[in-house]
Amino acid sequence: MLQETITTDRPARRWQDYVVPQCWEKFTEDDHAVWDLLFTRQVELLGSRVASPFLDGIDLLRLSHPGVPDVEGLNAILTPRTGWHVVAVPGLVPDDIFFAMLAERVFPVGNFIRTRAQLDYLEAPDCFHDMFGHIPMLAHHDFAELAEHVGRLGKIACAADEGERVARLYWHTVEFGLAREHGGLKILGAGLASSFGEAHFSLESDEAQRLPFSIEKAVRTPYKHDAFQPRYLVSESLDRTIADVLALDADRVMSLPLEG
Ligand SMILES: [Fe+2]
Repeated sequence: MLQETITTDRPARRWQDYVVPQCWEKFTEDDHAVWDLLFTRQVELLGSRVASPFLDGIDLLRLSHPGVPDVEGLNAILTPRTGWHVVAVPGLVPDDIFFAMLAERVFPVGNFIRTRAQLDYLEAPDCFHDMFGHIPMLAHHDFAELAEHVGRLGKIACAADEGERVARLYWHTVEFGLAREHGGLKILGAGLASSFGEAHFSLESDEAQRLPFSIEKAVRTPYKHDAFQPRYLVSESLDRTIADVLALDADRVMSLPLEG
């Protein structure tokens, strides 16, 4: 998930400064049981509600293996396939650091998991959101390229103090995007794929608006950090989203209006 700035006594400037060992052995028996509970519940809920490359990624990365995945095991499969590399972080990282990671095909995952009391509500993304929600799509060659490209655009935009433009693009694609597949409406974004409540809400609630996706509309549309999105952007296909994003350059992003 795109994450907000943390405060430290000495702000780090390189993405490498935010990386910590995952310390997989520190996950307790109950942590692993929480992962298993979340995984089983979410796979059952998603069924065919999610884009098919997501399900392919789950299988490929063997995420159905019981317990919290260890990052080395994920990287052993993911890195040779698409060049993406998972690293552990202790919590929230600033947007510019996050985009710098994406630009180098590095994806940060929390080194912690929610408790049983937090199954449906999270203040900060944990390893279930990060690993279950994000990593499967990074095993898809073209989506892997999209994520890197968003990182490059985000780096440039943050350097110009215009990071919000790319944050919105990221949010309406990688986190909360919907896309059509074989005529059906499917979840594309990790924030939806990993959420028990919002997966259903985004596709089926009458309270949510579903609008056709375009780059311009993504940059114009604000998002919510702390509630279900009031509107979702629906691409005509995953391939269309990928083509649109990859065709975007930094000059174009900077020229798009942020307001209606
Ligand atoms: Fe996320």
